Amino acid sequence: MLFVGHVGVYRHVRTHRVIIANCREYSRLTDNDIGKLATRAFWKEKYSRSNLNESTFDWFVEPDDVIKEIESRILKSGSHKLFRIMDIGCGTSSLALKLYSQVNNPIEIHCVDFVHEALGQQKNWSEQVLTKGHPFTSSHFVVADVCHLPYRNGIFDCVVDKGTMDALVKDRILGEEKCRKMLSEMERLLNQNGTILQISDEHPEVRQQLLETLTQNNCLTWSSSCISSFGNIEYFMYTARLETHLPTDS
Ligand SMILES: C[S@@+](CC[C@H](N)C(=O)[O-])C[C@H]1O[C@@H](n2cnc3c(N)ncnc32)[C@H](O)[C@@H]1O
Repeated sequence: MLFVGHVGVYRHVRTHRVIIANCREYSRLTDNDIGKLATRAFWKEKYSRSNLNESTFDWFVEPDDVIKEIESRILKSGSHKLFRIMDIGCGTSSLALKLYSQVNNPIEIHCVDFVHEALGQQKNWSEQVLTKGHPFTSSHFVVADVCHLPYRNGIFDCVVDKGTMDALVKDRILGEEKCRKMLSEMERLLNQNGTILQISDEHPEVRQQLLETLTQNNCLTWSSSCISSFGNIEYFMYTARLETHLPTDS
């Protein structure tokens, strides 16, 4: 497991060996092949082919709209406090890099993926940033399976999933179970005021129901909004917060 900058928030889980797509490759996949998106071998192969310093690649949407949402959460949480955020299945997205270099509040960014090479690129990019958004901001790169995350409970203010559950769900046999585990891990990591932000191209009629079914035993409430559109393709943001049960008077 690759840990860069130990911050005392991890717990031990079984190590997963490291591992890689872009939209063109995605669209070339046949219906029979689409299940590959749920495998480490696919992503490993993709990211191993790209060179260090290659430019970032973002699935679905550029991170700016997501960052606006994150910034509003930072303000709500009290901008003086360190805001801990995870990009779960970060791949070679520019989300972490933009958070690192643009957000003017102290944030601790955790990039998680099961492909070592993707995290190597993320680390390399963050080292090239000349001026961080805030002097106390830091980045951490962790190789892990999103279904078994090596972190203690309740320590994240925000977990962002951009396209990762979309990859997991492509496993025809184990897809739902993997998504259930990932969602349960995301919930476990949230602090009391924490939020999950999920970005997908799947319409709320399908995705919202899937999320509610998969988390019916969890304490999450989901809402959705259209975050961006390109022609008639729409992208959605699904937001979940922990339900807080106020003590009842007896
Ligand atoms: C569709 S890409 C999205 C990448 C990035 N979030 C973005 O927006 O561009 C899915 C990512 O999830 C990672 N991934 C898929 N299954 C995973 C798993 N079980 N554990 C950790 N990472 C996983 C892949 O390596 C890949 O980087």
